[in-house]
Amino acid sequence: MARPIQIAPSVLPVDFSKLGEAVVALDQAGVDLIQWDVMDGQFVPNLTFGPDVIASTRSLTTLPFEAHLMVLTPDVMAKRYVEAGCQRLIVHVEACTHLHRTLGNIRELGATAAVALNPSTPPSEVANVLDLVDLVLVMTVNPGFGGQSYISTMEPKIAEVRRMVNAAGLEDSVDVEVDGGISASTVQGAARAGANVLIAGSALFKHAGGLGAAVQELRTLANATR
Ligand code: DX5
Repeated sequence: MARPIQIAPSVLPVDFSKLGEAVVALDQAGVDLIQWDVMDGQFVPNLTFGPDVIASTRSLTTLPFEAHLMVLTPDVMAKRYVEAGCQRLIVHVEACTHLHRTLGNIRELGATAAVALNPSTPPSEVANVLDLVDLVLVMTVNPGFGGQSYISTMEPKIAEVRRMVNAAGLEDSVDVEVDGGISASTVQGAARAGANVLIAGSALFKHAGGLGAAVQELRTLANATR
């Protein structure tokens, strides 16, 4: 059974003085969850949301929060992001010396664990931890900034990750997510390749029809590939 299509925003493009309003608007626009792009200025050349920022919006929606930890030391802050209200923590393979242990620690905190692959990182890097995650994120841009162009050469990699998940008998429990440059013109390529959780920032917040129309457009296009 194919995993359901989910449309989720990155709140990176938001006016940070209006984060709370944006969270409420995203909820009303019909997104399935909210992704917080957490950046430490070390793993990527940008700095964004601490746990207290996320916690300040937690009461504004019942939507699941996931923290995309683009940080060098995810073990150090994982507990704080769970306490802030994130149900899922996504760590980068490239930042984890002991990935298996890090993912296990996240699960012991009561959150679900997920793993992200930068564009140059092969899917084989997650082959031995698929039983510990509920999602694999295939980056379709180099992390750090919104508004970048979709890297279409990631589509065979998306397909390989989906194949690995299915071959491990996890097709009913593990999602494949993509993040970066997802828009009306790229979403079908990613969905056809096997992605079912689609993260978008610019495409949602810059849509002429507003958030609701943008979410619906991406959802319709992605489902049309099924
Ligand atoms: C990169 C960020 C972006 C963001 C989405 O580190 O993770 O991919 O979420 O940005 P857009 O949708 O504008 O490419």
